[in-house]
Amino acid sequence: MTSTLITNIGQLVTNDPSHDGTKLGLIKDAALLIEDGVIAWAGPNSQAPTHHIKKTIDAESKCIVPGYVDSHTHMIFAGDRSNEFRARMLGEMYSAGGITSTVEKTRKASSELLLNHAQFLSAEANAGGTTTIEIKSGYGLTLKDEQRSLEIARKISDETTFLGAHVVPVEYKDSPHDYVDLVCGPMLEAVQPYAKWIDVFCDKGAFSVDDARRILKAGIARGLMPRLHANQLQEGQGIALGVELDAASVDHVSHVSEEDIQLLSTSNTVATLLPGAEFSTRSAYPDVRPLLEASITVALASDCNPGSSYTTSMAFIIAVAVREMHFSPEQAVWSATMGGAKALRRNDIGHLVEGACADFQILNAPSYIHLAYRPGVNLVEQVWRNGLQLI
Ligand code: NIG
Ligand code: FE
Repeated sequence: MTSTLITNIGQLVTNDPSHDGTKLGLIKDAALLIEDGVIAWAGPNSQAPTHHIKKTIDAESKCIVPGYVDSHTHMIFAGDRSNEFRARMLGEMYSAGGITSTVEKTRKASSELLLNHAQFLSAEANAGGTTTIEIKSGYGLTLKDEQRSLEIARKISDETTFLGAHVVPVEYKDSPHDYVDLVCGPMLEAVQPYAKWIDVFCDKGAFSVDDARRILKAGIARGLMPRLHANQLQEGQGIALGVELDAASVDHVSHVSEEDIQLLSTSNTVATLLPGAEFSTRSAYPDVRPLLEASITVALASDCNPGSSYTTSMAFIIAVAVREMHFSPEQAVWSATMGGAKALRRNDIGHLVEGACADFQILNAPSYIHLAYRPGVNLVEQVWRNGLQLI
């Protein structure tokens, strides 16, 4: 058995309310025991176990928080769209249409290039404190290209999502229903061994609620679990559909009605906010307060993709969420860790409780508040996953 004790932790964020009655479950002057890759004990330094410890690490009064669970990324693509970003910063509007240019480049790219690029992004995310990443397909949009995207994604993460219904590709412009048939039939069959989740971009310029329902149900029938891009660009019935199908999460939710809030508040569906998308498309930020007041579980994710949010930095996402969406610093940190775990329906990550994966970061800061208080500064000193130091 390998056991490591981390002592002298100035502030430990456990996300276990039993410690102090708050969501973050803070312990001051704490210690953390790791055995065989999982958390064996968390508590005050003064009560730390002393027997059978193989290795002790002094955290020098720094803050430890769980590794980020980034529950929404699109990391399998080639090329970038920096010129599109530049045009938006000068006043142009975002539309789903730009996806097509990434599809063209992704189809032309070799599998080796796609894998190397996704590994580069995932390493960048790890260096920023992320220990779990969900990865979607959606820039292939042919049977072969969606299949290879998910095969590549699977080499990096178990949390893989089939997003063949990202947009209708140009070759099906005049027969979009044939594309939906392809997604629900042969394409789904081809990707199923590599995908855990199924997702649809249900919005203006993408797929209707009826198509989304059909596609998600086809995925569910093949054993995939549903999640959904909903209400990014306008209000619609996407959130209601997510709740109807017990989706693990509805994502973006930038436009939310009273009825959506009512539906979400009585469901098991997480609302995942993606502030990087509002930042990069210069769109209005949604206010998280009505969601939290209705006791809806809220996650934060990066949405890393070349069009609407080209960042892997969850610290950046936390800072923007606090500054622009009225998250408290504690809610933002919770949403980026435990919230992401709930959006992936996982109990073994996102919190530092006995038996959970030993996935955490040591920050070069005395408190989690610094994540929003010191924007743009890399505060990550060490990153551990499954009890092993990654960074
Ligand atoms: O989540 N909204 C749909 N899909 C991506 C953007 C894709 C793109 O613009 O390339 C998103 O923001
Ligand atoms: Fe997305």
